[in-house]
Amino acid sequence: MPLPKAELHLHIEGTLEPELAFALAARNGVTLPYADTEALREAYRFEDLQSFLNLYYELMAVLRTEQDFTDLADAYLARAAAQGVRHAEIFFDPQAHLARGVAMGTVIEGLARALERSESAHGVSTQLIMCFLRDESAESAMETLHAAKPHLGRITGIGLDSAEVGHPPAKFREVYEAAAALGLRRVAHAGEEGPPSYITEALDVLGVERVDHGLRCLEDPALVERLVRERVPLTLCPLSNVRLRAVDVLAEHPLPAMMDAGLLCTVNSDDPAYFGGYVEDNYLVVGQALGLDPGRLRELARNSFLASFLEHDEERRARYLAEVDAYTFA
Ligand code: ADE
Ligand code: ZN
Repeated sequence: MPLPKAELHLHIEGTLEPELAFALAARNGVTLPYADTEALREAYRFEDLQSFLNLYYELMAVLRTEQDFTDLADAYLARAAAQGVRHAEIFFDPQAHLARGVAMGTVIEGLARALERSESAHGVSTQLIMCFLRDESAESAMETLHAAKPHLGRITGIGLDSAEVGHPPAKFREVYEAAAALGLRRVAHAGEEGPPSYITEALDVLGVERVDHGLRCLEDPALVERLVRERVPLTLCPLSNVRLRAVDVLAEHPLPAMMDAGLLCTVNSDDPAYFGGYVEDNYLVVGQALGLDPGRLRELARNSFLASFLEHDEERRARYLAEVDAYTFA
């Protein structure tokens, strides 16, 4: 049995496995520009974030109906459960679907159907985080927030993703203010490819409570000190960092140094269908390649629950933490 953990950085569209992509393509009469799953997998060689995003958005063409989104989330939750996930805070990218003529209600209600039965079906509690595409305009983000208003009961928070460099967080000040006024929690990708100043901006201008990636904070010692002092969680994604070449090789991933510095680190899978592993796979490879001992892995699992948005259910958080403490490594 894998170590119990929360997954806090997971794009549901990034869980679209080639087999499901082809099945949905057939169901919806969509032609993919790949002969088969093997040819598609051949395309999973990325130079950087943008080269991944191009394929990520292209494959979304197969997601059209509520049932498609339910099937996608169901498949993820089954895999997540097998990887020890007890709680998942799941990103989705509505603008990428709205742009293709898929309605907000189709996306959210489709995902919600899988999430509603996740606890009984998979033993995984869930939350939804709606991300804005930072390479789209601030106006588009605001329109997206308005379009989500009938569904806010299903949404815990907002995030910011897609191509980072050249799209600093401050561009989204107003939409983050509006989301905060609606009682939504706030996170943002920052410091994946973008500079440390984007992390500072996400904290100061957007008021984020967690930073997604945050890897490049290491270039600014004063920022590291602040993140430690304010106990800002970072949702790190080691396999993603290697595949998108944010780090050269896994053995050089700074996770151990970040933990030693006192940063509140968590380990997550980002887009597991594309990056060669789900969340337990990430824990296993960092354990092996970075020499993290069971005590450190347990610390990462504890951090995942401490950093999760479970304030409305502290009893549940305490139960999950007790499961981590009681876990015995094989
Ligand atoms: N969208 C999906 N995965 C992403 C990532 N790793 N960074 C930015 N945007 C994303
Ligand atoms: Zn991400």
